[in-house]
Amino acid sequence: MLLNRFEKALMNNPVRAAVQRHFEARRLYALGGPIRGGHALEVGCGRGVGTELVLERFGARSVDAFDLDPHMVELAGRRLARHGDRVRLWVGDAERIEAPDATYDAVFDFGIIHHVPAWPKALAEIHRVLKPGGRFYAEEVLAAFVLHPVVRRFFDHPEEDRFDHARFVAELGQAGFLLVDTRVLWGGFGWYVADRPS
Ligand SMILES: C[S@@+](CC[C@H](N)C(=O)[O-])C[C@H]1O[C@@H](n2cnc3c(N)ncnc32)[C@H](O)[C@@H]1O
Repeated sequence: MLLNRFEKALMNNPVRAAVQRHFEARRLYALGGPIRGGHALEVGCGRGVGTELVLERFGARSVDAFDLDPHMVELAGRRLARHGDRVRLWVGDAERIEAPDATYDAVFDFGIIHHVPAWPKALAEIHRVLKPGGRFYAEEVLAAFVLHPVVRRFFDHPEEDRFDHARFVAELGQAGFLLVDTRVLWGGFGWYVADRPS
């Protein structure tokens, strides 16, 4: 689901970039370390800050990235142009990832799966495009936040079948992942590192 104007403004500013860089990605790195192998995917890349982090902090050689919103992909293209052919961008949907099976060494999700109506399908797609032995790094927003009355007033999220921590972990297992490590903050935010077994 596309962001409304309010959330888009919250995402596309330097404060959000700083939180993503100094808090969210740092915590994911502490749980999962650098990527093994060099080819990564970011689902829902927004304006491309996460893709930069995947290259610079997690050590990817190349990153493919997509977003449902063509405007976000355009912003990411401008931001990431200096990386040349190390980055490939497209408009796409996490429910149907346009990549062959077993393509990536790592997949990154910086807070997008809670925007996907059929989110278990997105987890299955991420598992499909990871190589055996590949790693999924996810930072997610949980039902306690998404369904909070104040949040519902200002943000547009799908509301059917949202996930809490236990459900997200259960669906990772259902999709075939092996959980490596996880953290939860205030019951509303979760960090997950999970492997596609070799
Ligand atoms: C909360 S923003 C996060 C953006 C970026 N990852 C960040 O951390 O700044 C969620 C992003 O997911 C995108 N999105 C929503 N549904 C999507 C889907 N089904 N497939 C791919 N991207 C999606 C939105 O357009 C938006 O850019």
